[in-house]
Amino acid sequence: MEIRKIGVIGAGQMGNGIAHVMALAGYDVLLNDISEDVLDKAIATIRKNMERQVSRDRITAEAMEAALARITPTLTLSDLGATDLVIEAATERESVKQAIFDELLPHLQDHTILTSNTSSISITRLASRTDRPEKFMGFHFMNPVPVMQLVELIRGIATDKPTFDACRAVVEKLGKTAASAEDFPAFIVNRILMPMINEAVYTLYEGVGSVQSIDQSMKLGANHPMGPLELADFIGLDTCLAIMNVLHDGLADTKYRPCPLLTKYVEAGWLGRKTGRGFYDYRGDEPVPTR
Ligand code: CAA
Repeated sequence: MEIRKIGVIGAGQMGNGIAHVMALAGYDVLLNDISEDVLDKAIATIRKNMERQVSRDRITAEAMEAALARITPTLTLSDLGATDLVIEAATERESVKQAIFDELLPHLQDHTILTSNTSSISITRLASRTDRPEKFMGFHFMNPVPVMQLVELIRGIATDKPTFDACRAVVEKLGKTAASAEDFPAFIVNRILMPMINEAVYTLYEGVGSVQSIDQSMKLGANHPMGPLELADFIGLDTCLAIMNVLHDGLADTKYRPCPLLTKYVEAGWLGRKTGRGFYDYRGDEPVPTR
């Protein structure tokens, strides 16, 4: 099964990164969103990120222009009917993903593989509501997509081998590495990463350390490229909380209970970098800790 044309649904943080790497690898990309403004911003972001790669000699200016020409933005979901592989990277809410699949499915060709970039929702459950559970799986990129080497490939209970192999071949063509994960809450990376981030928030909540000392400790004491609170802001505190809730509900173990301070930040709308404030305030020249 040869994949040539790829549909990406959702042009936010993850979707624009996915379109970026797919186009650089030579795939034709249809990038879909419901907002023209989001699509315009996504194309500008992809250009900016590619220019950064050109300036660091990672790619040539010709490769950048060729890749940008391979990306077609579209507001019409049914346009994705012409693709061989669809990666859904819309809002991390099951009802939203469900509505997108319901609208898209009648337009898809029989051979098209349907995947979700979900970081924690059950692949088996999403697949069961489509007409192609055997051609459905999880295709989970890490943020920032152009930089991070890993892609988690998650098989639902019904996913067949040709589908898995076709997705693994795409990951290889991207020059990235695939990790195969079984379909249990939050898969591998977030099953391990989110409890660490949640524990960092508890460490702050209980006054063991300040935002700055917690982040510095993990950067200098454990060689992490970002401190856990800085990373939480980067991922989005709403996403972190949603994943903790999936772990808590799905595994029914109190060790996954989300820290009340994380809930409070989300309730305040302080969701991290994307809203200008989280564990740090990003509205000035330099990020300033908010506690
Ligand atoms: N597009 C293209 N290139 C980018 C980029 C982007 N969006 N962001 C950074 N880069 C490139 C830079 O150009 C630079 O390239 P060179 O090595 O060629 O010079 C390189 O990445 C490093 O960037 P910087 O020098 O600007 O900054 P840095 O050294 O501080 O690294 C970082 C930034 C790569 C984000 C690093 O801090 C990091 O690895 N942080 C941790 C990220 C992480 O853990 N991500 C996973 C989150 S979990 C997840 O995504 C799963 C989920 O479901 C929630």
